[in-house]
Amino acid sequence: MAYGFLDIAATPSVKAAQAENGSLELWSKAGANRTFDRFTEAESAFIASRDSFYMATVSETGWPYVQHRGGPAGFLKVLDETTLGFADFSGNRQYISLGNLKADDRVSLFLMDYPRRARLKIFARAEVRDLASDGDLTERLALPAYNAKVERAMLFHLEAFDWNCPQHITPRFTEAEVSQAVAPVRMRLAQLEAENEALKARLAALKGNGED
Ligand SMILES: Cc1cc2nc3c(=O)[nH]c(=O)nc-3n(C[C@H](O)[C@H](O)[C@H](O)COP(=O)(O)O)c2cc1C
Repeated sequence: MAYGFLDIAATPSVKAAQAENGSLELWSKAGANRTFDRFTEAESAFIASRDSFYMATVSETGWPYVQHRGGPAGFLKVLDETTLGFADFSGNRQYISLGNLKADDRVSLFLMDYPRRARLKIFARAEVRDLASDGDLTERLALPAYNAKVERAMLFHLEAFDWNCPQHITPRFTEAEVSQAVAPVRMRLAQLEAENEALKARLAALKGNGED
């Protein structure tokens, strides 16, 4: 595998587009000796800290369909170096992704880290599992502190991944991240408010004693 991700993505039409735009040679040579078919520590740590991802499936009529999946950070688990899994929550009951996967198990996952301006894209084959019939998997995917009804387990068997550059990603922060970042400022503000109150009280006391 010269460049796993492009081995899949570079279809004849994509190669033709690369040729027309002068990048065919560049991408034919790129990634020699690089493999993208198993997660290293870098991908595992990145995936473990995500609280959402986007999942594209393909419909029987050829339409791409993208949906958001979210949960507490780490809800998408790295089960081993080529397998991801998560507990799929109950939603609007349209079951578009689930239905698409019955006809075609291929997915494209897109994971964003907005504060660090990093993104990881993954080609995988999905496997839907009944949670009730697999106690070990249920335990590994469980989110006991999270309030959501789990309908099924979904596994992703890795075909290839690739990282994207940080270009054009606007850093965005979650409420928890903002709260953590401003905690020292809040603490300092509270100290200054207390100090201000103490000084005001002292001034009032001095005025009361007739000292200006
Ligand atoms: C009550 C309810 C209503 C929802 N309405 C929408 C909606 O209108 N559009 C949408 O994209 N997601 C909606 N969602 C979230 C989706 O149901 C959820 O992302 C689900 O996983 C979608 O899966 P699917 O698109 O593969 O069928 C809703 C969720 C709930 C619980």
